[in-house]
Amino acid sequence: MSAIRPAARKTLDQLRSQRWFANEEIRGFAHRQRMQQQGFSREAFLGRPCIGILNTWSELSPCHAHLRERAESVKRGILQAGGFPFELPAMSLGEVMVKPTTMIYRNFLAMEAEELMRSLPLDGVVLMGGCDKTTPGLIMGALSMDIPCIYLPAGPLLDDRYRGEAVGAGTHTKKFWAEYAIGNIGHDEWVRLEGRMARSPGTCNTMGTASTMTAIAEALGLSLPGAMAIPAVDSAHPRMAWACGQRIVDMVWEDLKPSRFITRASFQNAIVAYMALGGSTNAAVHLPAMAGRAGIALGLDDLDAVARAVPVIVDLYPSGKHLMEDFYYAGGLPSVLKQVRGHLDLSALTVTGRTLGEEIDAWPDADEGPSAQAAPTIRTCEQPLIAATSDCPEAGMALAVLHGNLCPDGAVIKPSAANPKLLRHTGRALVFDSNEEMLAAVDDPDLDADENTVLVLRNAGPVGGPGMPEWGNLPIPKKLLRQGVRDMVRISDGRMSGTHYGTCILHVAPESAVGGPLALLRTGDQVRLDIGERRLDMLVPEAELAARRQAWTPPQQPYQRGYTRIYQAEVTQADQGCDFRSLAGTAPTPEPPIF
Ligand code: FES
Ligand code: MG
Repeated sequence: MSAIRPAARKTLDQLRSQRWFANEEIRGFAHRQRMQQQGFSREAFLGRPCIGILNTWSELSPCHAHLRERAESVKRGILQAGGFPFELPAMSLGEVMVKPTTMIYRNFLAMEAEELMRSLPLDGVVLMGGCDKTTPGLIMGALSMDIPCIYLPAGPLLDDRYRGEAVGAGTHTKKFWAEYAIGNIGHDEWVRLEGRMARSPGTCNTMGTASTMTAIAEALGLSLPGAMAIPAVDSAHPRMAWACGQRIVDMVWEDLKPSRFITRASFQNAIVAYMALGGSTNAAVHLPAMAGRAGIALGLDDLDAVARAVPVIVDLYPSGKHLMEDFYYAGGLPSVLKQVRGHLDLSALTVTGRTLGEEIDAWPDADEGPSAQAAPTIRTCEQPLIAATSDCPEAGMALAVLHGNLCPDGAVIKPSAANPKLLRHTGRALVFDSNEEMLAAVDDPDLDADENTVLVLRNAGPVGGPGMPEWGNLPIPKKLLRQGVRDMVRISDGRMSGTHYGTCILHVAPESAVGGPLALLRTGDQVRLDIGERRLDMLVPEAELAARRQAWTPPQQPYQRGYTRIYQAEVTQADQGCDFRSLAGTAPTPEPPIF
Protein backbone atom coordinates (compact mmCIF):
# COMPACT_ATOMS: atom_id res chain seq x y z
CA MET A 1 0.00 0.00 0.00
CA SER A 2 1.38 3.39 -0.88
CA ALA A 3 -0.47 5.41 1.73
CA ILE A 4 2.72 6.70 3.33
CA ARG A 5 4.83 6.94 0.19
CA PRO A 6 3.89 10.33 -1.36
CA ALA A 7 3.95 12.24 1.92
CA ALA A 8 7.41 11.11 2.93
CA ARG A 9 9.27 10.40 -0.31
CA LYS A 10 12.84 11.53 0.07
CA THR A 11 14.89 13.42 -2.46
CA LEU A 12 18.44 12.46 -3.33
CA ASP A 13 19.99 15.34 -1.42
CA GLN A 14 18.17 14.20 1.74
CA LEU A 15 19.94 10.84 1.82
CA ARG A 16 22.48 10.67 4.64
CA SER A 17 25.08 8.96 2.41
CA GLN A 18 25.14 12.14 0.30
CA ARG A 19 26.93 13.90 3.15
CA TRP A 20 29.86 11.57 2.55
CA PHE A 21 29.79 11.18 -1.22
CA ALA A 22 28.24 14.35 -2.71
CA ASN A 23 30.53 16.52 -0.65
CA GLU A 24 32.70 18.84 -2.79
CA GLU A 25 35.26 19.38 -0.02
CA ILE A 26 38.49 17.41 0.25
CA ARG A 27 36.76 14.81 2.45
CA GLY A 28 34.19 14.04 -0.25
CA PHE A 29 37.03 13.53 -2.70
CA ALA A 30 38.70 11.09 -0.28
CA HIS A 31 35.45 9.16 0.27
CA ARG A 32 34.85 8.72 -3.45
CA GLN A 33 38.51 7.96 -4.09
CA ARG A 34 38.47 5.16 -1.53
CA MET A 35 35.38 3.64 -3.08
CA GLN A 36 37.09 3.71 -6.46
CA GLN A 37 40.06 2.02 -4.78
CA GLN A 38 37.83 -1.01 -4.41
CA GLY A 39 36.88 -0.97 -8.07
CA PHE A 40 33.51 0.73 -7.54
CA SER A 41 33.02 3.28 -10.34
CA ARG A 42 31.70 6.62 -9.17
CA GLU A 43 28.64 6.08 -11.42
CA ALA A 44 27.94 2.83 -9.50
CA PHE A 45 27.45 4.40 -6.09
CA LEU A 46 26.96 8.15 -6.61
CA GLY A 47 23.39 9.36 -6.50
CA ARG A 48 22.00 6.06 -5.21
CA PRO A 49 20.78 4.88 -1.80
CA CYS A 50 23.70 3.23 -0.03
CA ILE A 51 22.53 0.08 1.72
CA GLY A 52 24.44 -1.73 4.44
CA ILE A 53 24.12 -5.48 4.72
CA LEU A 54 24.93 -6.27 8.35
CA ASN A 55 26.06 -9.86 8.12
CA THR A 56 26.60 -12.02 11.21
CA TRP A 57 28.25 -14.81 9.19
CA SER A 58 31.19 -16.66 10.74
CA GLU A 59 32.69 -20.13 10.65
CA LEU A 60 32.01 -20.39 14.37
CA SER A 61 28.30 -19.67 13.79
CA PRO A 62 27.03 -22.82 12.07
CA CYS A 63 23.47 -21.49 12.05
CA HIS A 64 24.67 -18.64 9.81
CA ALA A 65 27.00 -20.69 7.57
CA HIS A 66 24.96 -19.79 4.46
CA LEU A 67 24.66 -16.06 5.11
CA ARG A 68 27.82 -15.11 3.25
CA GLU A 69 26.42 -16.65 0.09
CA ARG A 70 22.96 -15.24 0.86
CA ALA A 71 24.34 -11.70 0.99
CA GLU A 72 24.96 -12.05 -2.76
CA SER A 73 21.21 -12.45 -3.32
CA VAL A 74 20.56 -9.38 -1.18
CA LYS A 75 23.10 -7.41 -3.22
CA ARG A 76 21.43 -8.42 -6.49
CA GLY A 77 18.11 -7.17 -5.14
CA ILE A 78 19.62 -3.86 -4.04
CA LEU A 79 21.42 -3.26 -7.33
CA GLN A 80 18.37 -4.10 -9.41
CA ALA A 81 16.29 -1.67 -7.36
CA GLY A 82 18.79 1.12 -8.01
CA GLY A 83 20.71 1.08 -4.73
CA PHE A 84 24.32 0.26 -3.97
CA PRO A 85 25.18 -2.46 -1.40
CA PHE A 86 27.96 -2.60 1.17
CA GLU A 87 28.34 -5.85 3.08
CA LEU A 88 29.63 -5.35 6.61
CA PRO A 89 30.62 -8.01 9.13
CA ALA A 90 28.96 -7.70 12.51
CA MET A 91 29.66 -9.69 15.66
CA SER A 92 28.54 -13.26 15.09
CA LEU A 93 26.90 -14.82 18.13
CA GLY A 94 26.78 -18.56 17.44
CA GLU A 95 24.78 -19.81 20.40
CA VAL A 96 26.65 -23.07 20.89
CA MET A 97 30.26 -21.90 20.65
CA VAL A 98 30.26 -18.54 22.42
CA LYS A 99 31.10 -18.76 26.14
CA PRO A 100 30.08 -18.10 28.82
CA THR A 101 26.85 -17.22 27.03
CA THR A 102 25.86 -15.21 23.96
CA MET A 103 23.50 -13.22 26.19
CA ILE A 104 26.40 -11.27 27.62
CA TYR A 105 27.22 -10.09 24.07
CA ARG A 106 23.69 -9.24 22.89
CA ASN A 107 24.14 -5.65 24.02
CA PHE A 108 27.61 -5.60 22.47
CA LEU A 109 26.08 -6.59 19.09
CA ALA A 110 23.30 -4.03 19.56
CA MET A 111 25.89 -1.37 20.19
CA GLU A 112 28.03 -2.48 17.25
CA ALA A 113 25.04 -2.54 14.87
CA GLU A 114 23.92 0.93 15.95
CA GLU A 115 27.37 2.45 15.65
CA LEU A 116 28.08 0.79 12.27
CA MET A 117 24.93 2.43 10.95
CA ARG A 118 25.77 5.77 12.50
CA SER A 119 29.43 6.00 11.59
CA LEU A 120 29.15 4.89 7.95
CA PRO A 121 27.46 6.33 4.83
CA LEU A 122 24.34 4.19 5.01
CA ASP A 123 20.77 5.13 4.10
CA GLY A 124 19.20 1.81 5.02
CA VAL A 125 20.23 -1.65 6.20
CA VAL A 126 19.39 -5.29 5.72
CA LEU A 127 20.04 -7.09 9.01
CA MET A 128 21.14 -10.71 8.61
CA GLY A 129 20.82 -12.84 11.71
CA GLY A 130 18.81 -15.67 13.21
CA CYS A 131 20.74 -17.56 15.87
CA ASP A 132 19.17 -16.64 19.22
CA LYS A 133 20.65 -13.31 20.38
CA THR A 134 21.48 -11.99 16.92
CA THR A 135 17.84 -11.10 16.25
CA PRO A 136 17.25 -8.93 19.34
CA GLY A 137 20.81 -7.56 19.18
CA LEU A 138 20.53 -6.37 15.58
CA ILE A 139 17.00 -5.06 16.06
CA MET A 140 17.84 -3.18 19.27
CA GLY A 141 20.65 -1.41 17.43
CA ALA A 142 18.43 -0.65 14.44
CA LEU A 143 15.60 0.71 16.58
CA SER A 144 18.04 3.02 18.35
CA MET A 145 19.62 4.22 15.11
CA ASP A 146 16.24 4.55 13.40
CA ILE A 147 17.10 4.40 9.71
CA PRO A 148 15.09 2.16 7.33
CA CYS A 149 15.87 -1.49 8.04
CA ILE A 150 14.59 -4.91 7.15
CA TYR A 151 15.34 -8.15 9.01
CA LEU A 152 16.43 -11.18 7.00
CA PRO A 153 16.18 -14.33 9.15
CA ALA A 154 18.68 -17.16 8.56
CA GLY A 155 15.88 -19.72 8.47
CA PRO A 156 15.73 -23.09 10.24
CA LEU A 157 17.95 -26.09 9.48
CA LEU A 158 16.50 -29.28 7.98
CA ASP A 159 14.96 -32.07 10.07
CA ASP A 160 16.59 -35.44 10.65
CA ARG A 161 14.99 -38.84 11.28
CA TYR A 162 15.99 -41.15 14.15
CA ARG A 163 14.26 -44.43 14.98
CA GLY A 164 11.44 -43.38 12.66
CA GLU A 165 10.86 -40.02 14.28
CA ALA A 166 11.65 -36.50 13.12
CA VAL A 167 14.37 -35.07 15.34
CA GLY A 168 15.90 -31.66 15.64
CA ALA A 169 18.89 -29.96 17.20
CA GLY A 170 18.58 -28.75 20.77
CA THR A 171 15.53 -30.37 22.32
CA HIS A 172 16.45 -33.88 21.25
CA THR A 173 20.08 -33.55 22.27
CA LYS A 174 19.09 -33.09 25.89
CA LYS A 175 16.56 -35.91 25.63
CA PHE A 176 19.09 -38.33 24.12
CA TRP A 177 21.71 -37.27 26.66
CA ALA A 178 19.38 -38.33 29.48
CA GLU A 179 18.89 -41.72 27.74
CA TYR A 180 22.65 -42.06 27.17
CA ALA A 181 23.32 -41.24 30.84
CA ILE A 182 21.26 -44.21 31.99
CA GLY A 183 22.52 -46.57 29.28
CA ASN A 184 19.48 -46.64 26.97
CA ILE A 185 21.69 -45.29 24.17
CA GLY A 186 25.12 -46.95 23.72
CA HIS A 187 28.39 -45.09 23.11
CA ASP A 188 28.71 -45.98 19.39
CA GLU A 189 25.19 -44.82 18.72
CA TRP A 190 25.85 -41.64 20.70
CA VAL A 191 28.89 -40.88 18.50
CA ARG A 192 26.82 -41.56 15.37
CA LEU A 193 24.19 -39.09 16.57
CA GLU A 194 26.87 -36.40 16.71
CA GLY A 195 27.08 -36.41 12.91
CA ARG A 196 23.33 -36.14 12.57
CA MET A 197 20.46 -33.98 13.82
CA ALA A 198 22.10 -30.78 12.54
CA ARG A 199 22.24 -31.67 8.86
CA SER A 200 22.26 -28.28 7.13
CA PRO A 201 23.07 -24.65 7.86
CA GLY A 202 20.28 -22.80 9.59
CA THR A 203 18.92 -22.14 13.05
CA CYS A 204 17.58 -24.75 15.49
CA ASN A 205 14.51 -26.33 13.92
CA THR A 206 12.30 -26.18 16.99
CA MET A 207 10.33 -23.35 18.54
CA GLY A 208 13.47 -22.42 20.48
CA THR A 209 14.80 -18.93 20.96
CA ALA A 210 15.89 -18.50 17.34
CA SER A 211 12.48 -19.29 15.82
CA THR A 212 10.72 -17.37 18.59
CA MET A 213 12.74 -14.23 17.97
CA THR A 214 12.55 -14.38 14.16
CA ALA A 215 8.77 -14.84 14.52
CA ILE A 216 8.68 -11.83 16.82
CA ALA A 217 10.66 -9.82 14.24
CA GLU A 218 8.13 -10.81 11.57
CA ALA A 219 5.11 -10.05 13.78
CA LEU A 220 6.64 -6.68 14.67
CA GLY A 221 6.56 -5.95 10.95
CA LEU A 222 10.35 -5.95 10.46
CA SER A 223 10.57 -8.95 8.07
CA LEU A 224 8.81 -9.78 4.84
CA PRO A 225 5.66 -11.88 5.40
CA GLY A 226 6.44 -15.59 5.76
CA ALA A 227 10.21 -15.04 5.90
CA MET A 228 11.03 -16.70 9.23
CA ALA A 229 9.72 -20.17 8.39
CA ILE A 230 11.61 -20.63 5.12
CA PRO A 231 14.22 -23.38 5.60
CA ALA A 232 17.75 -21.96 5.35
CA VAL A 233 18.66 -24.10 2.33
CA ASP A 234 15.33 -23.88 0.48
CA SER A 235 15.43 -22.07 -2.87
CA ALA A 236 12.80 -19.73 -1.48
CA HIS A 237 15.42 -18.43 0.94
CA PRO A 238 17.70 -16.70 -1.61
CA ARG A 239 14.56 -15.42 -3.35
CA MET A 240 13.42 -13.87 -0.07
CA ALA A 241 16.92 -12.43 0.44
CA TRP A 242 16.67 -10.85 -3.03
CA ALA A 243 13.26 -9.41 -2.13
CA CYS A 244 14.74 -7.86 1.04
CA GLY A 245 17.35 -6.15 -1.13
CA GLN A 246 14.67 -4.84 -3.48
CA ARG A 247 12.43 -3.62 -0.71
CA ILE A 248 15.02 -1.81 1.39
CA VAL A 249 15.81 0.57 -1.48
CA ASP A 250 12.15 1.60 -1.69
CA MET A 251 12.01 1.92 2.09
CA VAL A 252 14.83 4.46 1.93
CA TRP A 253 12.95 6.60 -0.60
CA GLU A 254 9.78 6.22 1.48
CA ASP A 255 11.73 7.10 4.64
CA LEU A 256 10.04 4.10 6.23
CA LYS A 257 12.17 4.01 9.36
CA PRO A 258 11.19 2.07 12.50
CA SER A 259 9.87 5.09 14.41
CA ARG A 260 7.26 5.54 11.67
CA PHE A 261 5.72 2.12 12.11
CA ILE A 262 6.97 0.32 15.24
CA THR A 263 4.45 1.18 17.95
CA ARG A 264 3.05 -0.36 21.10
CA ALA A 265 0.54 -2.13 18.83
CA SER A 266 3.43 -3.75 16.92
CA PHE A 267 4.83 -5.07 20.21
CA GLN A 268 1.40 -6.25 21.31
CA ASN A 269 1.15 -8.21 18.04
CA ALA A 270 4.61 -9.67 18.64
CA ILE A 271 3.55 -10.84 22.11
CA VAL A 272 0.42 -12.47 20.66
CA ALA A 273 2.60 -14.35 18.15
CA TYR A 274 5.01 -15.36 20.93
CA MET A 275 2.23 -16.89 23.03
CA ALA A 276 0.42 -18.63 20.14
CA LEU A 277 3.72 -20.24 19.12
CA GLY A 278 4.61 -21.39 22.63
CA GLY A 279 7.84 -19.44 22.21
CA SER A 280 11.01 -19.45 24.27
CA THR A 281 11.16 -17.85 27.73
CA ASN A 282 14.17 -15.91 26.44
CA ALA A 283 11.73 -13.65 24.59
CA ALA A 284 10.51 -12.43 27.98
CA VAL A 285 13.95 -10.81 28.40
CA HIS A 286 14.41 -9.59 24.83
CA LEU A 287 10.95 -8.03 24.33
CA PRO A 288 11.23 -5.43 27.13
CA ALA A 289 14.75 -4.61 25.92
CA MET A 290 13.67 -4.18 22.29
CA ALA A 291 10.61 -2.14 23.24
CA GLY A 292 12.80 0.06 25.45
CA ARG A 293 14.84 1.00 22.37
CA ALA A 294 11.65 2.18 20.71
CA GLY A 295 10.66 4.20 23.79
CA ILE A 296 7.88 1.78 24.69
CA ALA A 297 7.59 0.61 28.32
CA LEU A 298 6.83 -3.10 28.26
CA GLY A 299 6.79 -5.13 31.47
CA LEU A 300 6.41 -8.79 32.39
CA ASP A 301 2.79 -8.23 33.38
CA ASP A 302 2.03 -7.14 29.79
CA LEU A 303 3.29 -10.55 28.67
CA ASP A 304 1.33 -12.43 31.35
CA ALA A 305 -1.91 -10.71 30.31
CA VAL A 306 -1.54 -11.90 26.69
CA ALA A 307 -0.47 -15.40 27.79
CA ARG A 308 -3.76 -15.74 29.71
CA ALA A 309 -5.77 -14.82 26.60
CA VAL A 310 -3.86 -16.55 23.79
CA PRO A 311 -3.25 -20.30 24.10
CA VAL A 312 -0.43 -22.19 22.42
CA ILE A 313 -1.90 -23.26 19.08
CA VAL A 314 1.27 -24.43 17.35
CA ASP A 315 2.35 -28.04 17.75
CA LEU A 316 6.12 -27.55 17.73
CA TYR A 317 8.92 -28.79 19.95
CA PRO A 318 9.46 -28.29 22.84
CA SER A 319 5.75 -27.80 23.70
CA GLY A 320 4.55 -30.15 20.93
CA LYS A 321 5.97 -32.67 18.48
CA HIS A 322 6.49 -31.07 15.04
CA LEU A 323 9.62 -29.33 13.77
CA MET A 324 10.13 -26.18 11.73
CA GLU A 325 9.94 -27.87 8.33
CA ASP A 326 6.35 -28.88 9.12
CA PHE A 327 5.69 -25.32 10.27
CA TYR A 328 6.82 -24.07 6.86
CA TYR A 329 4.54 -26.51 5.03
CA ALA A 330 1.68 -25.41 7.30
CA GLY A 331 2.03 -21.80 6.11
CA GLY A 332 4.46 -20.28 8.61
CA LEU A 333 3.79 -17.30 10.82
CA PRO A 334 1.07 -15.59 8.72
CA SER A 335 -1.04 -18.76 9.03
CA VAL A 336 -0.69 -18.57 12.82
CA LEU A 337 -1.57 -14.88 12.82
CA LYS A 338 -4.75 -15.67 10.87
CA GLN A 339 -5.84 -17.94 13.72
CA VAL A 340 -5.27 -15.28 16.38
CA ARG A 341 -6.35 -12.30 14.31
CA GLY A 342 -8.94 -11.34 16.92
CA HIS A 343 -6.10 -10.56 19.33
CA LEU A 344 -4.05 -8.52 16.83
CA ASP A 345 -4.01 -4.86 15.93
CA LEU A 346 -4.38 -5.38 12.20
CA SER A 347 -3.71 -1.72 11.42
CA ALA A 348 -0.03 -2.01 12.45
CA LEU A 349 2.27 -1.23 9.52
CA THR A 350 5.06 -3.49 8.30
CA VAL A 351 8.22 -3.07 6.22
CA THR A 352 6.12 -3.70 3.12
CA GLY A 353 4.32 -0.40 3.72
CA ARG A 354 1.11 -2.40 4.06
CA THR A 355 -0.64 -3.29 7.30
CA LEU A 356 -0.30 -6.61 9.09
CA GLY A 357 -4.00 -7.18 8.39
CA GLU A 358 -3.49 -6.69 4.65
CA GLU A 359 -0.53 -9.04 4.67
CA ILE A 360 -2.29 -11.87 6.45
CA ASP A 361 -5.40 -11.45 4.28
CA ALA A 362 -3.22 -11.82 1.20
CA TRP A 363 -1.46 -14.92 2.57
CA PRO A 364 -2.65 -18.15 0.91
CA ASP A 365 -4.09 -20.90 3.07
CA ALA A 366 -1.78 -23.89 3.24
CA ASP A 367 -3.11 -27.15 1.88
CA GLU A 368 -1.28 -29.92 3.67
CA GLY A 369 -3.66 -32.69 2.69
CA PRO A 370 -5.59 -35.22 4.75
CA SER A 371 -2.67 -36.68 6.75
CA ALA A 372 -1.89 -33.28 8.29
CA GLN A 373 -5.51 -32.74 9.21
CA ALA A 374 -5.26 -35.48 11.85
CA ALA A 375 -2.32 -33.78 13.58
CA PRO A 376 -2.09 -30.23 12.27
CA THR A 377 1.00 -28.19 13.04
CA ILE A 378 -1.08 -25.03 13.35
CA ARG A 379 -4.32 -25.40 15.29
CA THR A 380 -7.08 -23.04 16.30
CA CYS A 381 -7.81 -21.13 19.50
CA GLU A 382 -10.86 -23.37 19.98
CA GLN A 383 -8.67 -26.49 19.77
CA PRO A 384 -5.32 -25.43 21.22
CA LEU A 385 -2.31 -27.68 21.62
CA ILE A 386 -2.83 -28.43 25.29
CA ALA A 387 -6.36 -28.27 26.63
CA ALA A 388 -6.82 -26.41 29.89
CA THR A 389 -8.18 -28.73 32.58
CA SER A 390 -10.10 -27.86 35.73
CA ASP A 391 -7.00 -29.01 37.69
CA CYS A 392 -4.67 -26.85 35.66
CA PRO A 393 -6.20 -24.08 33.55
CA GLU A 394 -2.65 -22.81 32.85
CA ALA A 395 -1.39 -26.03 31.23
CA GLY A 396 -1.70 -24.67 27.70
CA MET A 397 -0.05 -21.30 28.27
CA ALA A 398 3.32 -20.32 26.84
CA LEU A 399 4.24 -18.17 29.82
CA ALA A 400 3.25 -17.33 33.36
CA VAL A 401 4.80 -14.50 35.33
CA LEU A 402 5.24 -15.16 39.04
CA HIS A 403 5.66 -12.81 41.96
CA GLY A 404 6.23 -13.57 45.63
CA ASN A 405 8.79 -13.26 48.39
CA LEU A 406 11.34 -15.14 46.26
CA CYS A 407 10.88 -12.96 43.18
CA PRO A 408 9.38 -9.55 44.06
CA ASP A 409 10.17 -8.16 40.58
CA GLY A 410 9.05 -11.28 38.79
CA ALA A 411 10.08 -14.70 37.49
CA VAL A 412 8.81 -16.69 34.53
CA ILE A 413 7.80 -20.24 33.76
CA LYS A 414 6.63 -21.91 30.57
CA PRO A 415 3.64 -24.04 31.63
CA SER A 416 3.18 -25.59 28.17
CA ALA A 417 6.62 -27.22 28.45
CA ALA A 418 6.21 -28.19 32.12
CA ASN A 419 4.57 -31.07 33.96
CA PRO A 420 1.07 -29.79 34.91
CA LYS A 421 1.19 -31.86 38.11
CA LEU A 422 4.14 -29.82 39.36
CA LEU A 423 2.62 -26.39 38.72
CA ARG A 424 1.10 -26.41 42.20
CA HIS A 425 3.82 -27.78 44.40
CA THR A 426 5.42 -27.35 47.80
CA GLY A 427 8.79 -28.95 48.40
CA ARG A 428 12.07 -28.77 50.25
CA ALA A 429 14.75 -26.61 48.65
CA LEU A 430 18.15 -27.98 47.70
CA VAL A 431 20.24 -24.89 47.00
CA PHE A 432 23.39 -24.61 44.91
CA ASP A 433 25.50 -21.44 44.92
CA SER A 434 27.07 -22.01 41.52
CA ASN A 435 26.68 -24.11 38.41
CA GLU A 436 30.00 -25.86 39.15
CA GLU A 437 28.82 -26.79 42.63
CA MET A 438 25.55 -28.10 41.21
CA LEU A 439 27.26 -30.16 38.48
CA ALA A 440 29.70 -31.66 40.98
CA ALA A 441 26.90 -32.74 43.33
CA VAL A 442 23.89 -33.58 41.21
CA ASP A 443 24.87 -37.12 40.22
CA ASP A 444 26.12 -38.14 43.67
CA PRO A 445 24.25 -41.37 44.53
CA ASP A 446 23.86 -40.03 48.09
CA LEU A 447 22.34 -36.70 47.01
CA ASP A 448 19.71 -35.71 49.54
CA ALA A 449 16.84 -35.32 47.04
CA ASP A 450 13.66 -37.03 45.96
CA GLU A 451 11.11 -36.25 43.27
CA ASN A 452 9.47 -33.56 45.46
CA THR A 453 12.68 -31.67 46.08
CA VAL A 454 12.91 -28.17 44.59
CA LEU A 455 16.33 -27.75 42.97
CA VAL A 456 17.64 -24.18 43.21
CA LEU A 457 20.56 -22.54 41.43
CA ARG A 458 21.58 -18.99 42.25
CA ASN A 459 24.31 -16.58 41.12
CA ALA A 460 23.23 -17.28 37.54
CA GLY A 461 21.65 -13.87 36.88
CA PRO A 462 22.69 -10.92 34.68
CA VAL A 463 25.38 -9.78 37.15
CA GLY A 464 26.00 -13.08 38.93
CA GLY A 465 26.37 -15.37 35.90
CA PRO A 466 27.43 -13.00 34.50
CA GLY A 467 25.14 -12.68 31.49
CA MET A 468 22.35 -14.98 32.72
CA PRO A 469 23.68 -18.26 31.27
CA GLU A 470 21.23 -20.95 30.22
CA TRP A 471 21.76 -23.01 33.37
CA GLY A 472 18.14 -22.88 34.50
CA ASN A 473 17.24 -26.31 33.13
CA LEU A 474 19.08 -28.02 36.02
CA PRO A 475 19.69 -31.70 35.24
CA ILE A 476 17.52 -34.26 37.00
CA PRO A 477 19.82 -36.13 39.43
CA LYS A 478 20.94 -39.46 37.96
CA LYS A 479 19.62 -41.45 40.91
CA LEU A 480 16.15 -40.01 40.29
CA LEU A 481 16.39 -40.53 36.52
CA ARG A 482 16.94 -44.22 37.26
CA GLN A 483 13.75 -44.20 39.32
CA GLY A 484 11.89 -42.85 36.29
CA VAL A 485 11.72 -39.19 37.39
CA ARG A 486 11.81 -36.97 34.29
CA ASP A 487 10.78 -33.57 35.71
CA MET A 488 11.16 -31.65 38.97
CA VAL A 489 10.53 -28.07 40.07
CA ARG A 490 13.69 -26.09 39.44
CA ILE A 491 14.34 -22.41 40.25
CA SER A 492 17.11 -20.07 39.17
CA ASP A 493 17.95 -16.49 38.35
CA GLY A 494 19.42 -17.72 35.05
CA ARG A 495 17.74 -18.56 31.75
CA MET A 496 16.91 -21.80 29.97
CA SER A 497 17.43 -22.66 26.34
CA GLY A 498 14.25 -22.22 24.34
CA THR A 499 14.66 -25.76 23.08
CA HIS A 500 14.41 -27.23 26.59
CA TYR A 501 11.40 -28.29 28.61
CA GLY A 502 10.61 -28.90 32.25
CA THR A 503 9.07 -27.22 35.28
CA CYS A 504 11.76 -24.56 35.44
CA ILE A 505 11.20 -21.19 37.08
CA LEU A 506 13.61 -18.74 35.51
CA HIS A 507 14.75 -15.09 35.49
CA VAL A 508 14.13 -14.61 39.24
CA ALA A 509 14.40 -10.86 39.84
CA PRO A 510 16.10 -9.24 41.52
CA GLU A 511 18.87 -11.83 41.17
CA SER A 512 20.78 -13.20 44.13
CA ALA A 513 24.13 -11.57 43.24
CA VAL A 514 22.66 -8.11 43.83
CA GLY A 515 20.96 -9.17 47.05
CA GLY A 516 17.61 -10.40 45.74
CA PRO A 517 15.73 -12.66 48.19
CA LEU A 518 16.86 -15.79 46.33
CA ALA A 519 20.19 -15.12 48.07
CA LEU A 520 18.51 -15.77 51.44
CA LEU A 521 17.06 -19.20 50.65
CA ARG A 522 18.69 -22.18 52.40
CA THR A 523 18.68 -25.89 51.78
CA GLY A 524 15.83 -27.37 53.80
CA ASP A 525 13.49 -24.36 53.50
CA GLN A 526 10.05 -25.08 52.08
CA VAL A 527 9.25 -23.43 48.75
CA ARG A 528 5.74 -23.09 47.36
CA LEU A 529 4.82 -22.64 43.69
CA ASP A 530 1.20 -21.77 42.98
CA ILE A 531 0.68 -21.12 39.32
CA GLY A 532 -2.99 -20.18 39.78
CA GLU A 533 -2.02 -17.36 42.11
CA ARG A 534 1.10 -16.67 40.03
CA ARG A 535 3.09 -16.93 43.26
CA LEU A 536 6.50 -18.24 44.21
CA ASP A 537 7.32 -18.05 47.93
CA MET A 538 9.73 -19.41 50.47
CA LEU A 539 7.88 -20.38 53.61
CA VAL A 540 10.32 -18.74 55.98
CA PRO A 541 9.24 -16.27 58.70
CA GLU A 542 9.96 -12.62 57.92
CA ALA A 543 12.08 -12.20 61.08
CA GLU A 544 14.32 -15.06 60.00
CA LEU A 545 14.66 -13.56 56.51
CA ALA A 546 15.57 -10.19 58.05
CA ALA A 547 18.35 -11.85 60.06
CA ARG A 548 19.67 -13.63 56.96
CA ARG A 549 19.55 -10.37 54.99
CA GLN A 550 21.61 -8.71 57.70
CA ALA A 551 24.27 -11.41 57.44
CA TRP A 552 24.39 -11.50 53.61
CA THR A 553 27.47 -10.31 51.74
CA PRO A 554 27.65 -10.01 47.94
CA PRO A 555 29.70 -12.65 46.11
CA GLN A 556 33.21 -11.65 45.04
CA GLN A 557 33.40 -10.71 41.37
CA PRO A 558 36.61 -11.70 39.58
CA TYR A 559 36.10 -9.26 36.67
CA GLN A 560 38.16 -6.18 37.44
CA ARG A 561 38.48 -4.90 33.86
CA GLY A 562 37.21 -5.33 30.33
CA TYR A 563 33.82 -5.80 28.75
CA THR A 564 32.47 -8.05 31.52
CA ARG A 565 33.13 -5.34 34.07
CA ILE A 566 31.30 -2.79 31.91
CA TYR A 567 28.47 -5.33 31.49
CA GLN A 568 28.10 -5.92 35.24
CA ALA A 569 28.07 -2.20 35.96
CA GLU A 570 25.57 -1.35 33.22
CA VAL A 571 23.15 -4.27 32.96
CA THR A 572 19.56 -4.02 34.20
CA GLN A 573 17.67 -6.91 35.79
CA ALA A 574 15.82 -9.58 33.81
CA ASP A 575 12.37 -8.00 34.19
CA GLN A 576 13.75 -4.86 32.51
CA GLY A 577 15.34 -6.75 29.64
CA CYS A 578 19.03 -6.76 30.70
CA ASP A 579 19.80 -3.81 28.44
CA PHE A 580 22.57 -1.42 29.42
CA ARG A 581 21.26 1.57 31.34
CA SER A 582 23.04 3.96 28.99
CA LEU A 583 21.75 2.26 25.81
CA ALA A 584 18.04 2.21 26.69
CA GLY A 585 15.69 5.02 25.77
CA THR A 586 15.29 7.20 22.74
CA ALA A 587 17.30 10.32 23.47
CA PRO A 588 18.47 11.54 20.04
CA THR A 589 22.13 11.00 19.17
CA PRO A 590 23.61 13.61 16.81
CA GLU A 591 24.74 12.51 13.34
CA PRO A 592 28.54 12.39 13.13
CA PRO A 593 30.17 15.52 11.72
CA ILE A 594 31.98 14.99 8.40
CA PHE A 595 35.46 16.49 8.39
FE1 FES B 1 21.89 -21.24 16.59
FE2 FES B 1 20.13 -22.81 18.03
S1 FES B 1 22.30 -22.79 18.04
S2 FES B 1 19.74 -21.23 16.62
MG1 MG C 1 19.06 -21.52 22.09
